[in-house]
Amino acid sequence: MKHIFRKGTDLTKPTLLLLHGTGGTEQDLLPLAERIDDQASVLSVRGNVLEHGMPRFFRRLAEGVFDEEDLIFRTKELNDFLNDAAEKYEFDRDNLVAVGYSNGANIAGSLLFHYKNALRGAILHHPMVPRRGIQLPDLTGTPVFIGAGTNDPICPAQESEELKSLLETAKASVQLHWENFGHQLTLGEVEAAGKWYRENFKEA
Ligand code: MLT
Repeated sequence: MKHIFRKGTDLTKPTLLLLHGTGGTEQDLLPLAERIDDQASVLSVRGNVLEHGMPRFFRRLAEGVFDEEDLIFRTKELNDFLNDAAEKYEFDRDNLVAVGYSNGANIAGSLLFHYKNALRGAILHHPMVPRRGIQLPDLTGTPVFIGAGTNDPICPAQESEELKSLLETAKASVQLHWENFGHQLTLGEVEAAGKWYRENFKEA
């Protein structure tokens, strides 16, 4: 997968896995990584699917309606890529914290839903429920931050609550942060995510 890897100055820190929104690229979330942990290594990936020329991490049939078969295929593809990247760049595969926005948050959520040890933690900005009706792996000890908008037309508030509850049933520890906005990524939630990260992944 097309990507950028930047080795951090403190290799005991998690590696931040950046996953952009629809139409984005691997450049988009680099400034977020700086804010969250400027000493951490960064792996920023571009989605392999194109929708009218816009990169995404998996296909959708309509706005908010996912192509489930492709979601499953692309989730495995990303997980395999992470395994290979960890070997190539020599970062700790078990110490990866995802930072995703919108479609990128949805594939990060899908990694959590399908693979037990895919992520050590995740910051999900405006995620949806990636799949329903499946048994999640045991996510005990996995901290997850959800940034949601009370007026998000793409993800209704009850879907953010549903995602929290599905992850909690799998024993993840979830913080749901609300902003009185829509689907956009706000400074308030970026700052809240940074605070959550520092609390959960203490300075070495
Ligand atoms: C998705 O398709 O993943 C969601 O609708 C969010 C987005 O617009 O990318």
